[in-house]
Amino acid sequence: MDRYAVIGNPIAHSKSPQIHAAFARQTGQRMEYGRLLGSLDDFAGDVRAFVADGGRGLNVTVPFKQAAWKLLADRSPRAEAAGAVNTIIVLDDCRLRGDNTDGVGLVRDLVDNQGFDFAGKRVLLLGAGGAAHGVLGALLDAGPAALTIANRTAAKAVDLARAAADARIDGCGLGDLADRSFDLIVNATSSGLEGGVPDLPDGLLAAGAWTYDMVYGDAPTPFCRWGEARGAVRALDGLGMLVEQAAESFRLWRGVRPETTPVIAELRRGLAGPP
Ligand code: ATR
Repeated sequence: MDRYAVIGNPIAHSKSPQIHAAFARQTGQRMEYGRLLGSLDDFAGDVRAFVADGGRGLNVTVPFKQAAWKLLADRSPRAEAAGAVNTIIVLDDCRLRGDNTDGVGLVRDLVDNQGFDFAGKRVLLLGAGGAAHGVLGALLDAGPAALTIANRTAAKAVDLARAAADARIDGCGLGDLADRSFDLIVNATSSGLEGGVPDLPDGLLAAGAWTYDMVYGDAPTPFCRWGEARGAVRALDGLGMLVEQAAESFRLWRGVRPETTPVIAELRRGLAGPP
């Protein structure tokens, strides 16, 4: 049976095996999908061993996405632009190809699942680390009128915006956001890990604005609560993005696109826990 896995460190709590098992059931694909605890000092060795053992594909998660990008010379254009690889495809001759489905996962969740229309919209992307870099290209491709990257360390946002070389994009520090407003604010910072939100000025949300936190939890995340408290029309978390990026990886490997709606609902019920 074809074998796949998600590699990360830590990995025990990854939901990817549950998601891909649901996709496989739904589409009638015979495959296995497991968890692989990557070693922090030999990611390349772990990947090689998995492939030598007959593995057909890997999802790559924290902290190895940039290492995977460096390891694989053959990268899709969107992986190239993201500076990170979250999907490794083992080709028939055992060569490895790197792709990145995170950005498309975010945009599909917003557009296809939630009905957000990027046309004419001003988007604010918070953060300038790996997570922000990874979704920037897909956000631009979605067609907003303007995209601002704002980061605690302003220089990193300015550099990322400059590298994107797109007339619609600018980069700044969080403190430079006073008196500006946006139609969609995407949180790609890791501030939620410490239970907080970035230090943001008031008045950032335009009338009808949405907020999107790229992480999720069993309770509304701090950034979801931040959006709700400021009147966001929708304050979404990243569960839909997680399932959508998985669906795109599944399509790359198996050539079949699974239905995501029932899987998102199944995960949401699981997060809510027993009544
Ligand atoms: P990731 O791969 O999750 O993006 P990263 O590359 O370490 O991780 O980047 C973390 C991002 O979250 C950075 O943009 C960081 O801002 P700095 O560049 O100024 O460090 C941002 N971040 C982390 N904690 C934050 C906080 N409490 N407030 C605002 N931004 C924060």
